[in-house]
Amino acid sequence: MPLRGKRAVVTGAAAGIGRAIAERLARAGASLTLIDRAGDAVEGAAGALRAQGAQARAMVLDMAELAAVEPAIRRAAELMGGLEILVNNAGIAAQKPFLEHELGDFERIYRINVMALFAASRAAAAWMVEHNVPGRIVNIASVAGLRGSTGRAAYGSSKAAVINLTQVAAQELAPHGITVNAVAPGPIETDMVRAVHTERTRAGWLREVPMGRYGEPTDIAEAVAYLVSDGAGYVTGHVLAVDGGFAASGLLIPLEDLR
Ligand SMILES: NC(=O)c1ccc[n+]([C@@H]2O[C@H](COP(=O)([O-])OP(=O)(O)OC[C@H]3O[C@@H](n4cnc5c(N)ncnc54)[C@H](O)[C@@H]3O)[C@@H](O)[C@H]2O)c1
Repeated sequence: MPLRGKRAVVTGAAAGIGRAIAERLARAGASLTLIDRAGDAVEGAAGALRAQGAQARAMVLDMAELAAVEPAIRRAAELMGGLEILVNNAGIAAQKPFLEHELGDFERIYRINVMALFAASRAAAAWMVEHNVPGRIVNIASVAGLRGSTGRAAYGSSKAAVINLTQVAAQELAPHGITVNAVAPGPIETDMVRAVHTERTRAGWLREVPMGRYGEPTDIAEAVAYLVSDGAGYVTGHVLAVDGGFAASGLLIPLEDLR
């Protein structure tokens, strides 16, 4: 139980990657606050963790309500009796051609993916500094923030902002012993992906990802479990791609053509 005694907040924890992260941290012994805007689903997710013997509480919050984010993180810390770990996972996506993207898409996506993430991180870091806690913050970015992808003007650039925010926060919080890292998932089988990936999109990913498959939410949860562990205390400002090799790949010439 490497995280026994640690208290963690996971945002967007009712489904998909966030839920898998919450389950993984609970299995490692952490107490959890699961934040999500989907009320019934987040209550259900927290209830399922409690049924497995974990300490887990649901908090219903739309992270787009920016003024409510910082008080919610402080409240979660108070209710749990402390806060060592924040995982900023809540995020939304859109795919649209560049010429059809609208300013409203940027406002909607940046508000949740970037501004709410900043507000939550600042609140958590302030708590950790105030209580002298060498805490851990992990931001869920995306390979869309590392490489230019079609249709990702708003989403991809929001995730690039998450990566830079991770690096900036890592610099400023290092003197307090707080690490800040990002995980950049490739395509992961979740509701978000099922909503936006057509059969043709799927075929495109399968061609571009060297491992030739989509990842599972648990692949991301394992990376987060490492980054919040005591063993990762000297890792900060890092972006860990969990993407079947996509971010590291270039031109994929079939091996038969090289012979
Ligand atoms: N699935 C992928 O392929 C993939 C790839 C790269 C990055 N990501 C990132 O991983 C994170 C999770 O993605 P997912 O695929 O699990 O998504 P998902 O849509 O399956 O689940 C997201 C969860 O976040 C919650 N959420 C969304 N907006 C919220 C808000 N404003 N306030 C509170 N809760 C909110 C949803 O209710 C849901 O429970 C996102 O940040 C996403 O950008 C996903």
